[in-house]
Amino acid sequence: MSADTTASFAGQQPPVTALDGVSALYGGDYNPEQWPQEVWARDMELFREANINSVTINVFSWARLQPSEDVYDFAELDKIVTMTRYAGLSIVMATSTGALPAWLSLRHPEVNRVDHQGRRMRHRERHNPCINSPVYRRLSTELAGRLAERYGPVPNLAAWHVSNEYGGFCWCDICAGAFREWLRARYGTVNNVNEAWNAAFWGHTYHSFEEIFPPNELGDTTAGNKAVLGGLSLDYRRFYGEAVLESFRDEKAAIRQHDPDRPVTTNMMGTFPDYDYFQWSEDLDIVSWDSYPSPETTAAETCFRHDLMRAVGHQKPFMLMEQTPSRQNWQPYNALKRPQQLRQQSWQAISRGADTVQFFQLRQSRAGCEKFHGAVIGADGSSQTRTFTEVAQLGEELAKVSRRVLGSHVEPGKVAIVFDWPSNWGLAMSTGPSQSLDYVAQVENWYREIHRRNIPVDIISTAGPFDDYQAVIAPCLYMLGEQPAAALRAYVGDGGRLLLTTMSALVDELDRLHQGQAPVPLRDLAGVTVEETDALRPGHSVALDFGETVLAGASAPAGTILCDVLRPDPDTTVLARYGGEYYAGIPALTFAASAGNGGVLYSASLPDEAGVALVIDALLAGTDVRGTRTPAGVAVSRRIRPDGTVLTFLVNSTSESHSATPGTAGTDILTGHSVGETIELGPYGVVVIETPAGG
Ligand code: GLA
Ligand code: ZN
Repeated sequence: MSADTTASFAGQQPPVTALDGVSALYGGDYNPEQWPQEVWARDMELFREANINSVTINVFSWARLQPSEDVYDFAELDKIVTMTRYAGLSIVMATSTGALPAWLSLRHPEVNRVDHQGRRMRHRERHNPCINSPVYRRLSTELAGRLAERYGPVPNLAAWHVSNEYGGFCWCDICAGAFREWLRARYGTVNNVNEAWNAAFWGHTYHSFEEIFPPNELGDTTAGNKAVLGGLSLDYRRFYGEAVLESFRDEKAAIRQHDPDRPVTTNMMGTFPDYDYFQWSEDLDIVSWDSYPSPETTAAETCFRHDLMRAVGHQKPFMLMEQTPSRQNWQPYNALKRPQQLRQQSWQAISRGADTVQFFQLRQSRAGCEKFHGAVIGADGSSQTRTFTEVAQLGEELAKVSRRVLGSHVEPGKVAIVFDWPSNWGLAMSTGPSQSLDYVAQVENWYREIHRRNIPVDIISTAGPFDDYQAVIAPCLYMLGEQPAAALRAYVGDGGRLLLTTMSALVDELDRLHQGQAPVPLRDLAGVTVEETDALRPGHSVALDFGETVLAGASAPAGTILCDVLRPDPDTTVLARYGGEYYAGIPALTFAASAGNGGVLYSASLPDEAGVALVIDALLAGTDVRGTRTPAGVAVSRRIRPDGTVLTFLVNSTSESHSATPGTAGTDILTGHSVGETIELGPYGVVVIETPAGG
């Protein structure tokens, strides 16, 4: 695009895009730079046929945009941008900083990461920069700024997409130096660091900051990849995560110099463990994320991730930046999505707060390690495929109805589940008490039961706020600092119902055991003392005796992985007891009442599915939270428009037909038909019922 072309963009009306609330952005990653230009024109026609209205471009083009340190060349991207405008497509413009150019790696080797084994990388792969390299930071920010200067005036630009799927760590000397500065700023003196990390353990006492190194395999990581000093390992994660966020902020600031308005985002990855996504909430104009459920991923697990990503954006709608239209590339086996499953997963995402439906990718690569990845258009240009047809149908449907969905928000949760990245880190880097404990899996166990009952649920961080919820579930909330502990105490004191489990409230933010009787900061409210914790042989469980409550024929509940041996306070109610081991008869589930119906339920073990259901019954007793019964695999959830109109989504994530009776009258916006009491859902069927306010 010449300067003239840019000027000619400036006076034009922008096309409607999802982000202005009129029609959902529908499209995805598109890499025309991998193809000769003849192919581009044909692609534009096919996008129109597929009802695609947007492309995410420039994700991995740094090396082409900047062939050497002093030379920028935007000619190709200009052509691509101009083409999209004539094709009537919105653009999600990436900044390309997620993969280093080879010349940059060669000229400034310090931009390449040093891996966990201490090896300096050459140019390789992608997602590869040392985030603390001043050269990387200078050139990535420069590139983002130049892109915004050039393409900021382009009217069909809908959003900015910084980097791509930030992930990983670097362990180089630059990072070590920056880490020491970070420690100095945080702790002031090296003695404070010693104190914070309990460095006297294994003789680690430091006498100067220069003695401190990133905890990689050459240093303080155990053979099993666990932390030697929890405080050191946690601080390195925090330090590195903050640097990644700063790098995002630098690029965003450079964009903002030229484009004051367009939303800026980066694509996240659900429960991805490396960085605490809650730290990003204030910096993202809109959350976006990449959803890649495997054939084994349950609907509950996918919905949990959508809900978590919505939580990062303070429960506001988000962008489904990527999903595959057919098969993936990185799984042990990459099954095709079944007929209509793409539509089902897309509506599932919308039902949990997605305002866009985007794919990786629009045209399959001819070569490279993603050449077998699913795409809307085949590498041979094929469009006579089931995938293409389903994409086109979904595009038509979204174009028709998205106006009725956009602007609505997901029904606020009645129950909240706490998800805490630092607790995940702390548990994963601990050497005990059981390697079978997986934090994410534990949170999912509780989410699954709430999801099964179709109870509106929000995921929240330890920052809360808790007051909006009738019950708060905090599974294995291992790390609990003063502030969240005080907030949870206030919540329970005001009549909230809090569920804690074993491995809760054990350590402070530096992985130091709280001093006193566990669960120390909440012990009095919990009404129990944890005397000791037994770890079960992998795969083994201990029966849980809930007394009368277990109906004959129901599967017998059991505790798994870890069993606290509890001593309840005199006023504490015992709701279940262990039915085995030397602690048979000892309380396994307790309730300590606070004000009103409030109080703390303490689950001393990690119950299996049957046990989780009984614990949830006990948690919700005394609240007016009721779910909606649906056949297994059929979910009901709602979005609400500002005028109070309710959209009820029924999503069948199974390959069988089901009928459901959600008790909602109205019109199915997908078919225009009014729906009766009983709703038939075909395999992977979806119904979206619109009910006027108060209806
Ligand atoms: C990620 C990346 C894409 C692509 C897809 C493949 O989400 O962001 O570039 O590699 O995975 O599934
Ligand atoms: Zn580094």
